[in-house]
Amino acid sequence: MRVLGIETSCDETGVALYDSERGLLADALFSQIDLHRIYGGVVPELASRDHVKRLVPLVREVLERAGVAEGEVDGIAYTAGPGLVGALLVGGAFARALAFAWQVPALGVHHMEGHLLAPMLEDRPPEFPFVALLVSGGHTQLVRVDGIGQYQLLGESLDDAAGEAFDKTAKLMGLRYPGGPEIARLAEQGQSGRFVFPRPMTDRPGLDFSFSGLKTFTLNTWQRCVAEGDDGEQTRSDVALAFEQAVVETLTIKCRRALKATGLKRLVIAGGVSANRRLRASLEQMAGGLKGELFYARTEFCTDNGAMIAYAGCQRLMAGQQDGVGLEARARWPL
Ligand code: KG4
Ligand code: ZN
Repeated sequence: MRVLGIETSCDETGVALYDSERGLLADALFSQIDLHRIYGGVVPELASRDHVKRLVPLVREVLERAGVAEGEVDGIAYTAGPGLVGALLVGGAFARALAFAWQVPALGVHHMEGHLLAPMLEDRPPEFPFVALLVSGGHTQLVRVDGIGQYQLLGESLDDAAGEAFDKTAKLMGLRYPGGPEIARLAEQGQSGRFVFPRPMTDRPGLDFSFSGLKTFTLNTWQRCVAEGDDGEQTRSDVALAFEQAVVETLTIKCRRALKATGLKRLVIAGGVSANRRLRASLEQMAGGLKGELFYARTEFCTDNGAMIAYAGCQRLMAGQQDGVGLEARARWPL
């Protein structure tokens, strides 16, 4: 089965074609980061309008690069939520209209299921069951995964998501949007040990997270440095490193707990923050210590993309699922 995937939940227009026999045939992405950067974050109305412009050219590009004609696509999967409702409606309406024109089934896919399954597109995909850490701009969740659609939530963030904490902290420190890659880049020059930040909610049992206090702690530290006239590039890097280390160690402690609690050996990380090199290294070491294994997607499939939606949609369409009569666009939607 050959499925076209369409992702428009936030500020990336992603389109891809996945073939159940041959794997990923082509994928294309347009990132709106430059459009939103001057506002310091995503402007929903601008995001929706830009998705409208990008979809047709991206679909054409993907079909051409895959060498596949319109009549050779068997189904269309689109992100139905969670995300910005206007942006979701653009992708959903477009996908449903295209499916109607091509006389193929359409299916709304959960964005986080897309992220969760993105590592399946790699040469060495994880086998079920596994523990997944989903870390994106909107979500931080630990999930037990026993198969496609068999997800058990083990823990989640009670306030900010990990990516959101990176973005907000970066903004408070005067860095560019999106903050995750900016903080990671600065942290590389940071001096370890100059600042040590708290590891929230690690001193009590459980698998939930909280990152908003850490953001405030970082802001207070940075403002103290600024007030003392110590606001040069090195100090900014030292603060960025302390923040990144605190997030990474907190996530590592909770993942270790989740592996121990479930008795599972395989850990999958997915979502934008899974692109973070320090996080990958820390989890690799932790999983190795438990004789386990870590899996993640290539960097461009950690952040939003069409390939993960094409893959997740293909699995579900092959299982016989397809949309009902109403168009689905859900700003909030539990996995
Ligand atoms: O999965 P994603 O593309 O979109 C959502 O579904 O939210 O994740 C975007 C998030 C942003 O918060 C961004 O700052 C973060 O992922 N991110 C990173 C890195 N690359 C992206 N965070 C930390 N380190 C990175 N290298
Ligand atoms: Zn995402």
